[in-house]
Amino acid sequence: MQSNRSFLNDYFCFTMGKDKLARFAAIKSFENVLEYQRNQPFPLSGNWTRDFFKNDQPLIIELGCGKGEYSVGLAKMYPNKNFIGLDIKGNRIFIGARQALKEKMTNVGFLRTRIDFIEALFGPNEVDEIWLTFSDPQPQKPKKRLSSPIFINRYQKILKPGGSIHMKTDNDLLFQYTLEQIEEHGYSIIDYRPDLYQSLETETNPTLKQIFSIKTHYEQLFYGKGHIIKYVSFKIN
Ligand SMILES: C[S@@+](CC[C@H](N)C(=O)[O-])C[C@H]1O[C@@H](n2cnc3c(N)ncnc32)[C@H](O)[C@@H]1O
Repeated sequence: MQSNRSFLNDYFCFTMGKDKLARFAAIKSFENVLEYQRNQPFPLSGNWTRDFFKNDQPLIIELGCGKGEYSVGLAKMYPNKNFIGLDIKGNRIFIGARQALKEKMTNVGFLRTRIDFIEALFGPNEVDEIWLTFSDPQPQKPKKRLSSPIFINRYQKILKPGGSIHMKTDNDLLFQYTLEQIEEHGYSIIDYRPDLYQSLETETNPTLKQIFSIKTHYEQLFYGKGHIIKYVSFKIN
């Protein structure tokens, strides 16, 4: 007769897939991945640069980072800045975290947790920039959109004065909603590109070209289906 434990193993392998399970287990031993669950103390909050990165460089976070293409890509471009990719899915984080470990990158880390907890994870004024890359558009639940007032209020607490938010998306609903939020609350737009790739045909700034040449997994998927990629960056305080 099958033991309880092996039955559970078989069940999880069947429902999650063996690869996913292995990746999920692997990140637990990765020194560049941390996990956080609600209501735990989190001593790194307010002390990321000093205690995790062991430097005093600016901190940039990517929310819903998936495989972490932006966190890793920007960390390569900017060795004098620190990056944290945050996502609930450990099997996705695994991809970026493994690459960063292989390449011995010391300015990028990952957090497996829910974005909803960011106020507990970062201290007041600790974050310089926030990247929202192909966030779930949440068509039925506007409050869960990462540019909704609930989330912007959280960002306001952790962002430095003058800190910026970047959104890259293919989704018309989320893009339009974000532009409406910007207008309604008087946030200031830094850069607005309703068709990012078309705008790059005449872009002369090599740094911007390089930043926008980073393509996430979902970006490639949606661009391949003919969706127009959009970008906006703005300041909320
Ligand atoms: C559409 S995917 C985009 C992933 C990646 N940025 C990309 O462009 O390929 C959205 C990601 O956000 C993550 N996510 C959605 N809601 C989340 C939440 N509340 N907390 C943490 N991660 C979340 C999902 O796990 C998923 O990886």
